[in-house]
Amino acid sequence: MVNISIALDGPAGAGKSTIAKIIAKAKKLTYIDTGAMYRAITLKILRYGKNVQEEQIKKILSDSKIDIDGNDIFLDGKLVTEEIRKPEVSNFVSHVAKISFVRMKMVELQRKIAANKNVIMDGRDIGTYVLPNATYKFFLTASIDERAKRRFTELKEKGFNVTFEEVKNEMEKRDKIDTEREFAPLRQAEDAIVIDTTGKCIQEVVDEILYYLK
Ligand code: DC
Repeated sequence: MVNISIALDGPAGAGKSTIAKIIAKAKKLTYIDTGAMYRAITLKILRYGKNVQEEQIKKILSDSKIDIDGNDIFLDGKLVTEEIRKPEVSNFVSHVAKISFVRMKMVELQRKIAANKNVIMDGRDIGTYVLPNATYKFFLTASIDERAKRRFTELKEKGFNVTFEEVKNEMEKRDKIDTEREFAPLRQAEDAIVIDTTGKCIQEVVDEILYYLK
């Protein structure tokens, strides 16, 4: 049996995870949030401080266990689904995600999960690197203001004390690191269907994707 895989890439705040969860439910696919995996390892690294050296990161990586179960993510057996969304993690994660040995380990894990299941995987390099032969590839974008507004609203709802400008600045910095890193940067796959979600409601984007999933 050939597995179905959907790659859903794009910058932060483009709507990937919200859309992916709905499509996963509608099409009975396993949803894999690859950003959550980078966030989980970042959370662990931050416990050692922001100045940890490469050798220590290698050790942390080999001593850590990351598991995904539905929408839940576990770090060394402990549920960290909420904790990995903290601004502290968001502001540091792209520095960790640009390290090639970190990416290799995450990619290995991601490919292993996708090998045995029908998946929808969201991230930055799914269509270009993790699953280059994905059955479907989508690239979601939106204007920086709209993406920052969505993230700001989400953080406010969760009770975080942030300003719109802070969220927008951090998002721009993150986009820059994610796009300019050497190994598997954020890039649209040549064969991806591009959807600009600016000004669109969730259902419109879901319908657009479902239209392609024949
Ligand atoms: O999607 P997110 O905001 O949770 O992703 C967190 C960070 O992880 C983001 O800055 C980029 C990085 N990331 C990545 O480099 N590759 C992926 N496949 C997914 C996320």
